[in-house]
Amino acid sequence: MWVYQYDNRIALESLKRMEWPDPEPGSHDIVIQMGAVALNHRDIAIARGHYHIRVQPPLVPLSDGAGRVVQIGQEVTRFRLGDLAAPVYLPDWIDGPVTPRAGRRRLGGPTDGVLSEFKCVHEEEAVRLPSFLSAADAATLPVTAVTAWHALNVTGTLTAGDTVLIQGTGALSLAALQVARMAGTKTILLTRDDRHSPRLRALGADIVITTRQEPDWAEAVLEATGGNGADVSVDILGGDSLNRTIRATRVGGRVHAVGYVTGTSATIDLFEAIRHAVTIHVATAGHRASFEALVRALDQHQVRPVVGDQYAVDRLSDAFEGMAQGGHFGKIVVPLSQQLEAASQV
Ligand SMILES: NC(=O)c1ccc[n+]([C@@H]2O[C@H](COP(=O)([O-])OP(=O)(O)OC[C@H]3O[C@@H](n4cnc5c(N)ncnc54)[C@H](OP(=O)(O)O)[C@@H]3O)[C@@H](O)[C@H]2O)c1
Repeated sequence: MWVYQYDNRIALESLKRMEWPDPEPGSHDIVIQMGAVALNHRDIAIARGHYHIRVQPPLVPLSDGAGRVVQIGQEVTRFRLGDLAAPVYLPDWIDGPVTPRAGRRRLGGPTDGVLSEFKCVHEEEAVRLPSFLSAADAATLPVTAVTAWHALNVTGTLTAGDTVLIQGTGALSLAALQVARMAGTKTILLTRDDRHSPRLRALGADIVITTRQEPDWAEAVLEATGGNGADVSVDILGGDSLNRTIRATRVGGRVHAVGYVTGTSATIDLFEAIRHAVTIHVATAGHRASFEALVRALDQHQVRPVVGDQYAVDRLSDAFEGMAQGGHFGKIVVPLSQQLEAASQV
Protein backbone atom coordinates (compact mmCIF):
# COMPACT_ATOMS: atom_id res chain seq x y z
CA MET A 1 0.00 0.00 0.00
CA TRP A 2 1.09 3.62 -0.41
CA VAL A 3 1.68 5.81 2.59
CA TYR A 4 2.99 9.34 3.12
CA GLN A 5 5.56 9.67 5.87
CA TYR A 6 7.79 12.32 7.37
CA ASP A 7 10.93 10.33 7.04
CA ASN A 8 13.86 11.60 9.07
CA ARG A 9 12.64 15.15 9.76
CA ILE A 10 9.21 16.65 10.36
CA ALA A 11 8.87 19.28 7.64
CA LEU A 12 6.73 19.29 4.50
CA GLU A 13 9.85 19.03 2.31
CA SER A 14 10.69 15.68 3.91
CA LEU A 15 7.21 14.19 3.42
CA LYS A 16 7.68 11.15 1.15
CA ARG A 17 5.29 8.77 -0.55
CA MET A 18 6.47 5.21 0.04
CA GLU A 19 5.33 1.61 -0.20
CA TRP A 20 4.51 -0.42 2.88
CA PRO A 21 3.24 -4.02 3.08
CA ASP A 22 -0.58 -4.23 3.12
CA PRO A 23 -1.99 -4.42 6.66
CA GLU A 24 -2.94 -7.77 8.14
CA PRO A 25 -5.78 -7.18 10.59
CA GLY A 26 -5.73 -8.83 14.01
CA SER A 27 -8.89 -10.51 15.26
CA HIS A 28 -10.46 -7.24 16.48
CA ASP A 29 -9.05 -4.95 13.77
CA ILE A 30 -10.67 -3.35 10.76
CA VAL A 31 -8.88 -2.15 7.63
CA ILE A 32 -10.26 1.08 6.17
CA GLN A 33 -9.45 2.04 2.58
CA MET A 34 -9.11 5.77 3.06
CA GLY A 35 -11.42 7.67 0.70
CA ALA A 36 -10.59 11.18 1.91
CA VAL A 37 -8.49 12.98 4.49
CA ALA A 38 -8.83 16.52 5.82
CA LEU A 39 -6.58 19.18 7.32
CA ASN A 40 -6.34 20.78 10.74
CA HIS A 41 -4.20 23.62 12.04
CA ARG A 42 -2.37 21.07 14.17
CA ASP A 43 -1.05 19.50 10.95
CA ILE A 44 0.48 22.82 9.94
CA ALA A 45 1.86 23.45 13.43
CA ILE A 46 3.41 19.96 13.48
CA ALA A 47 4.91 20.42 9.99
CA ARG A 48 6.35 23.78 11.03
CA GLY A 49 7.71 22.49 14.34
CA HIS A 50 5.64 24.57 16.74
CA TYR A 51 2.94 22.20 17.96
CA HIS A 52 2.35 22.07 21.70
CA ILE A 53 3.24 18.36 21.92
CA ARG A 54 6.59 16.83 21.01
CA VAL A 55 6.29 14.89 17.77
CA GLN A 56 9.09 12.84 16.26
CA PRO A 57 9.77 11.21 12.89
CA PRO A 58 9.08 8.84 11.29
CA LEU A 59 5.41 9.87 11.23
CA VAL A 60 2.40 9.41 8.97
CA PRO A 61 0.62 12.81 9.08
CA LEU A 62 -3.01 13.94 9.37
CA SER A 63 -5.66 13.24 11.99
CA ASP A 64 -8.87 13.37 9.95
CA GLY A 65 -9.91 10.77 7.42
CA ALA A 66 -12.59 8.26 6.45
CA GLY A 67 -13.20 5.46 4.01
CA ARG A 68 -14.75 2.04 3.45
CA VAL A 69 -14.06 -1.01 5.59
CA VAL A 70 -12.41 -3.51 3.24
CA GLN A 71 -11.19 -6.16 5.73
CA ILE A 72 -12.30 -7.20 9.19
CA GLY A 73 -10.77 -9.48 11.78
CA GLN A 74 -12.58 -12.68 12.78
CA GLU A 75 -13.91 -11.33 16.09
CA VAL A 76 -15.08 -7.90 14.85
CA THR A 77 -18.65 -7.05 15.86
CA ARG A 78 -18.86 -3.25 15.48
CA PHE A 79 -18.32 -3.10 11.69
CA ARG A 80 -19.22 -4.90 8.48
CA LEU A 81 -17.40 -4.94 5.15
CA GLY A 82 -18.36 -1.87 3.09
CA ASP A 83 -19.24 0.34 6.09
CA LEU A 84 -18.13 3.95 5.93
CA ALA A 85 -15.79 4.38 8.91
CA ALA A 86 -13.53 7.00 10.43
CA PRO A 87 -10.70 6.36 12.88
CA VAL A 88 -11.09 8.39 16.08
CA TYR A 89 -8.51 11.11 16.63
CA LEU A 90 -7.89 10.26 20.32
CA PRO A 91 -8.08 6.44 20.38
CA ASP A 92 -7.57 6.27 24.17
CA TRP A 93 -10.57 8.47 24.99
CA ILE A 94 -13.70 6.41 24.50
CA ASP A 95 -15.97 8.14 27.02
CA GLY A 96 -15.98 9.92 30.38
CA PRO A 97 -14.00 12.87 31.67
CA VAL A 98 -10.71 13.87 30.12
CA THR A 99 -7.67 12.30 31.81
CA PRO A 100 -3.93 12.43 31.01
CA ARG A 101 -4.41 9.11 29.23
CA ALA A 102 -7.01 10.63 26.86
CA GLY A 103 -4.41 12.47 24.81
CA ARG A 104 -1.66 9.85 24.98
CA ARG A 105 -2.17 8.74 21.38
CA ARG A 106 -3.24 11.34 18.79
CA LEU A 107 -3.55 10.37 15.15
CA GLY A 108 -1.31 12.53 12.97
CA GLY A 109 1.20 13.14 15.77
CA PRO A 110 2.63 11.75 17.92
CA THR A 111 0.80 8.60 16.67
CA ASP A 112 0.80 7.68 12.96
CA GLY A 113 -2.08 9.37 11.14
CA VAL A 114 -4.34 8.61 8.24
CA LEU A 115 -2.54 9.74 5.07
CA SER A 116 -2.25 6.24 3.66
CA GLU A 117 -4.09 3.95 1.30
CA PHE A 118 -5.27 1.73 4.16
CA LYS A 119 -5.56 2.38 7.88
CA CYS A 120 -5.77 -0.61 10.20
CA VAL A 121 -7.28 0.14 13.62
CA HIS A 122 -8.86 -1.78 16.48
CA GLU A 123 -12.63 -1.79 15.99
CA GLU A 124 -13.06 0.19 19.23
CA GLU A 125 -10.98 3.02 17.72
CA ALA A 126 -13.28 3.88 14.83
CA VAL A 127 -16.82 5.14 14.28
CA ARG A 128 -19.34 3.95 11.68
CA LEU A 129 -20.99 6.65 9.59
CA PRO A 130 -24.37 6.74 7.88
CA SER A 131 -24.55 5.95 4.18
CA PHE A 132 -25.88 9.38 3.12
CA LEU A 133 -22.43 10.80 3.91
CA SER A 134 -19.51 10.58 1.48
CA ALA A 135 -15.96 9.83 2.60
CA ALA A 136 -15.19 13.54 2.08
CA ASP A 137 -18.13 14.50 4.36
CA ALA A 138 -17.02 11.98 6.98
CA ALA A 139 -13.38 13.11 6.82
CA THR A 140 -14.45 16.56 8.09
CA LEU A 141 -15.67 15.18 11.42
CA PRO A 142 -13.09 13.52 13.72
CA VAL A 143 -11.25 16.59 15.06
CA THR A 144 -13.12 19.87 14.53
CA ALA A 145 -16.74 18.70 14.46
CA VAL A 146 -16.21 16.36 17.42
CA THR A 147 -14.54 19.23 19.31
CA ALA A 148 -17.54 21.47 18.60
CA TRP A 149 -19.99 18.76 19.67
CA HIS A 150 -18.06 17.87 22.81
CA ALA A 151 -17.70 21.49 23.93
CA LEU A 152 -21.30 22.48 23.27
CA ASN A 153 -23.11 19.31 24.33
CA VAL A 154 -20.86 17.43 26.77
CA THR A 155 -18.80 20.03 28.63
CA GLY A 156 -21.64 22.50 28.25
CA THR A 157 -25.31 22.08 27.50
CA LEU A 158 -27.35 23.82 24.85
CA THR A 159 -30.96 24.74 25.50
CA ALA A 160 -33.36 25.49 22.66
CA GLY A 161 -33.68 29.26 22.47
CA ASP A 162 -30.12 29.94 23.70
CA THR A 163 -28.09 32.33 21.59
CA VAL A 164 -24.73 30.96 20.51
CA LEU A 165 -21.94 33.24 19.27
CA ILE A 166 -19.61 31.58 16.76
CA GLN A 167 -16.55 33.17 15.15
CA GLY A 168 -15.34 32.45 11.62
CA THR A 169 -16.39 30.33 8.68
CA GLY A 170 -13.79 27.57 8.88
CA ALA A 171 -14.23 23.92 9.77
CA LEU A 172 -14.82 24.20 13.49
CA SER A 173 -17.09 27.22 13.22
CA LEU A 174 -19.40 25.72 10.62
CA ALA A 175 -19.53 22.46 12.58
CA ALA A 176 -20.43 24.49 15.69
CA LEU A 177 -23.14 26.27 13.68
CA GLN A 178 -24.62 22.93 12.60
CA VAL A 179 -24.41 21.52 16.15
CA ALA A 180 -26.06 24.65 17.57
CA ARG A 181 -28.80 24.57 14.93
CA MET A 182 -29.55 20.90 15.60
CA ALA A 183 -30.09 21.87 19.28
CA GLY A 184 -32.62 24.55 18.29
CA THR A 185 -30.53 27.53 19.36
CA LYS A 186 -30.22 30.95 17.72
CA THR A 187 -26.83 31.68 16.22
CA ILE A 188 -24.72 34.78 15.67
CA LEU A 189 -21.84 34.26 13.23
CA LEU A 190 -18.83 36.51 12.86
CA THR A 191 -16.93 36.65 9.59
CA ARG A 192 -14.37 39.01 8.16
CA ASP A 193 -15.77 38.56 4.69
CA ASP A 194 -19.29 39.72 3.83
CA ARG A 195 -19.29 37.40 0.80
CA HIS A 196 -19.78 34.50 3.24
CA SER A 197 -23.06 35.93 4.61
CA PRO A 198 -25.49 34.30 2.14
CA ARG A 199 -23.96 30.86 2.71
CA LEU A 200 -23.99 31.33 6.47
CA ARG A 201 -27.66 32.29 6.33
CA ALA A 202 -28.37 29.29 4.11
CA LEU A 203 -26.81 27.11 6.83
CA GLY A 204 -29.19 28.66 9.36
CA ALA A 205 -27.20 31.53 10.91
CA ASP A 206 -29.74 33.97 12.37
CA ILE A 207 -27.42 36.98 12.53
CA VAL A 208 -24.19 37.55 10.60
CA ILE A 209 -21.78 40.26 11.73
CA THR A 210 -19.02 41.25 9.32
CA THR A 211 -16.07 42.16 11.50
CA ARG A 212 -14.35 44.28 8.84
CA GLN A 213 -17.41 46.52 8.83
CA GLU A 214 -17.98 46.22 12.58
CA PRO A 215 -14.54 46.02 14.20
CA ASP A 216 -16.15 46.45 17.63
CA TRP A 217 -18.05 43.23 17.12
CA ALA A 218 -18.63 42.64 20.85
CA GLU A 219 -20.76 45.81 20.83
CA ALA A 220 -22.62 44.54 17.76
CA VAL A 221 -23.34 41.23 19.54
CA LEU A 222 -24.62 43.10 22.61
CA GLU A 223 -26.86 45.23 20.39
CA ALA A 224 -28.21 42.15 18.63
CA THR A 225 -29.04 40.50 21.97
CA GLY A 226 -30.81 43.43 23.62
CA GLY A 227 -27.69 44.29 25.64
CA ASN A 228 -27.48 40.84 27.25
CA GLY A 229 -24.79 39.05 25.22
CA ALA A 230 -24.70 35.49 23.93
CA ASP A 231 -25.55 32.63 26.29
CA VAL A 232 -22.72 30.53 24.88
CA SER A 233 -19.70 31.65 22.84
CA VAL A 234 -17.31 29.56 20.77
CA ASP A 235 -13.97 31.39 20.64
CA ILE A 236 -11.73 30.15 17.85
CA LEU A 237 -9.70 33.34 17.61
CA GLY A 238 -7.82 33.25 20.94
CA GLY A 239 -5.20 35.95 21.51
CA ASP A 240 -6.55 39.41 22.28
CA SER A 241 -9.98 38.47 20.95
CA LEU A 242 -10.79 36.36 24.01
CA ASN A 243 -11.60 39.48 26.06
CA ARG A 244 -14.00 40.64 23.37
CA THR A 245 -15.66 37.25 23.42
CA ILE A 246 -16.09 37.54 27.19
CA ARG A 247 -17.60 41.02 26.71
CA ALA A 248 -20.00 39.63 24.11
CA THR A 249 -21.18 36.84 26.48
CA ARG A 250 -24.02 37.31 28.96
CA VAL A 251 -23.58 37.42 32.72
CA GLY A 252 -23.35 33.82 33.85
CA GLY A 253 -22.75 32.59 30.29
CA ARG A 254 -20.14 30.18 28.99
CA VAL A 255 -17.14 30.74 26.75
CA HIS A 256 -15.58 27.76 25.00
CA ALA A 257 -11.96 28.73 24.30
CA VAL A 258 -11.28 26.42 21.41
CA GLY A 259 -8.80 27.99 19.00
CA TYR A 260 -5.80 30.21 18.59
CA VAL A 261 -6.27 31.64 15.09
CA THR A 262 -5.07 35.12 16.11
CA GLY A 263 -2.73 34.14 18.94
CA THR A 264 -1.66 31.27 21.18
CA SER A 265 -1.62 33.37 24.34
CA ALA A 266 -4.29 35.55 25.84
CA THR A 267 -4.27 37.91 28.80
CA ILE A 268 -7.69 37.76 30.37
CA ASP A 269 -9.17 41.03 31.63
CA LEU A 270 -10.28 39.64 34.98
CA PHE A 271 -12.49 42.65 35.74
CA GLU A 272 -14.44 41.97 32.53
CA ALA A 273 -14.57 38.25 33.30
CA ILE A 274 -15.70 38.89 36.89
CA ARG A 275 -18.34 41.42 35.75
CA HIS A 276 -19.69 38.79 33.37
CA ALA A 277 -19.15 35.88 35.79
CA VAL A 278 -18.48 33.69 32.76
CA THR A 279 -17.38 30.09 32.83
CA ILE A 280 -14.40 29.67 30.55
CA HIS A 281 -13.90 26.16 29.24
CA VAL A 282 -10.72 25.32 27.35
CA ALA A 283 -11.60 22.67 24.80
CA THR A 284 -9.45 19.71 23.94
CA ALA A 285 -11.09 17.68 21.17
CA GLY A 286 -13.62 15.05 22.30
CA HIS A 287 -14.16 11.37 23.01
CA ARG A 288 -15.53 8.60 20.82
CA ALA A 289 -18.91 8.84 22.53
CA SER A 290 -19.14 12.46 21.35
CA PHE A 291 -18.26 11.41 17.82
CA GLU A 292 -21.01 8.78 17.91
CA ALA A 293 -23.57 11.21 19.35
CA LEU A 294 -22.66 13.75 16.65
CA VAL A 295 -23.10 11.12 13.95
CA ARG A 296 -26.51 10.11 15.35
CA ALA A 297 -27.61 13.76 15.32
CA LEU A 298 -26.38 14.30 11.74
CA ASP A 299 -28.26 11.17 10.71
CA GLN A 300 -31.45 12.17 12.51
CA HIS A 301 -31.41 15.70 11.04
CA GLN A 302 -29.94 14.54 7.69
CA VAL A 303 -27.28 17.24 7.98
CA ARG A 304 -24.17 17.05 5.79
CA PRO A 305 -21.01 18.74 7.02
CA VAL A 306 -19.54 21.55 4.93
CA VAL A 307 -16.74 20.38 2.66
CA GLY A 308 -14.73 23.41 1.57
CA ASP A 309 -11.79 23.60 -0.83
CA GLN A 310 -10.52 20.26 -2.13
CA TYR A 311 -6.94 19.49 -3.18
CA ALA A 312 -5.44 16.45 -4.89
CA VAL A 313 -3.01 14.53 -2.70
CA ASP A 314 -0.03 15.58 -4.85
CA ARG A 315 -0.92 19.21 -4.00
CA LEU A 316 -0.68 18.70 -0.27
CA SER A 317 1.70 21.61 0.25
CA ASP A 318 -0.81 23.91 -1.55
CA ALA A 319 -3.52 22.56 0.75
CA PHE A 320 -1.40 23.39 3.81
CA GLU A 321 -0.69 26.85 2.40
CA GLY A 322 -4.40 27.41 1.62
CA MET A 323 -5.31 26.50 5.18
CA ALA A 324 -2.62 28.76 6.64
CA GLN A 325 -3.72 31.69 4.44
CA GLY A 326 -7.41 31.32 5.36
CA GLY A 327 -10.30 32.54 3.23
CA HIS A 328 -11.78 29.05 2.81
CA PHE A 329 -15.36 28.18 3.80
CA GLY A 330 -15.66 24.89 5.72
CA LYS A 331 -13.18 22.05 5.92
CA ILE A 332 -10.22 21.62 3.57
CA VAL A 333 -10.41 18.08 2.20
CA VAL A 334 -8.04 15.88 0.20
CA PRO A 335 -10.01 13.18 -1.65
CA LEU A 336 -7.97 10.00 -2.08
CA SER A 337 -10.20 7.63 -3.95
CA GLN A 338 -12.82 9.15 -6.25
CA GLN A 339 -13.53 5.75 -7.78
CA LEU A 340 -14.20 4.21 -4.40
CA GLU A 341 -16.61 7.00 -3.50
CA ALA A 342 -18.38 6.83 -6.86
CA ALA A 343 -18.76 3.07 -6.51
CA SER A 344 -20.12 3.34 -2.98
CA GLN A 345 -22.83 5.77 -4.05
CA VAL A 346 -24.24 3.60 -6.84
N1 LIG B 1 -9.06 22.85 21.16
C1 LIG B 1 -9.15 21.89 20.26
O1 LIG B 1 -9.21 20.71 20.58
C2 LIG B 1 -9.21 22.26 18.82
C3 LIG B 1 -9.68 21.33 17.88
C4 LIG B 1 -9.76 21.72 16.55
C5 LIG B 1 -9.36 22.99 16.17
N2 LIG B 1 -8.88 23.85 17.11
C6 LIG B 1 -8.47 25.21 16.75
O2 LIG B 1 -9.64 25.94 16.38
C7 LIG B 1 -9.30 26.96 15.47
C8 LIG B 1 -10.20 26.87 14.23
O3 LIG B 1 -9.90 25.69 13.53
P1 LIG B 1 -10.49 25.45 12.07
O4 LIG B 1 -10.04 24.13 11.62
O5 LIG B 1 -11.93 25.77 12.03
O6 LIG B 1 -9.70 26.60 11.25
P2 LIG B 1 -10.06 27.23 9.85
O7 LIG B 1 -10.86 26.27 9.04
O8 LIG B 1 -8.80 27.76 9.27
O9 LIG B 1 -11.01 28.45 10.22
C9 LIG B 1 -10.56 29.59 10.91
C10 LIG B 1 -11.51 30.75 10.62
O10 LIG B 1 -11.11 31.87 11.41
C11 LIG B 1 -11.35 33.05 10.70
N3 LIG B 1 -10.05 33.75 10.67
C12 LIG B 1 -8.90 33.37 10.14
N4 LIG B 1 -7.92 34.26 10.32
C13 LIG B 1 -8.46 35.21 11.02
C14 LIG B 1 -7.98 36.42 11.49
N5 LIG B 1 -6.69 36.80 11.33
N6 LIG B 1 -8.82 37.19 12.15
C15 LIG B 1 -10.06 36.82 12.32
N7 LIG B 1 -10.59 35.67 11.88
C16 LIG B 1 -9.81 34.88 11.22
C17 LIG B 1 -11.75 32.71 9.28
O11 LIG B 1 -13.13 32.99 9.08
P3 LIG B 1 -13.56 34.29 8.23
O12 LIG B 1 -12.66 34.31 7.03
O13 LIG B 1 -14.98 34.04 7.91
O14 LIG B 1 -13.36 35.45 9.13
C18 LIG B 1 -11.45 31.23 9.20
O15 LIG B 1 -12.36 30.56 8.40
C19 LIG B 1 -7.82 26.77 15.16
O16 LIG B 1 -7.05 27.64 15.98
C20 LIG B 1 -7.56 25.33 15.55
O17 LIG B 1 -6.23 25.08 15.86
C21 LIG B 1 -8.80 23.51 18.42
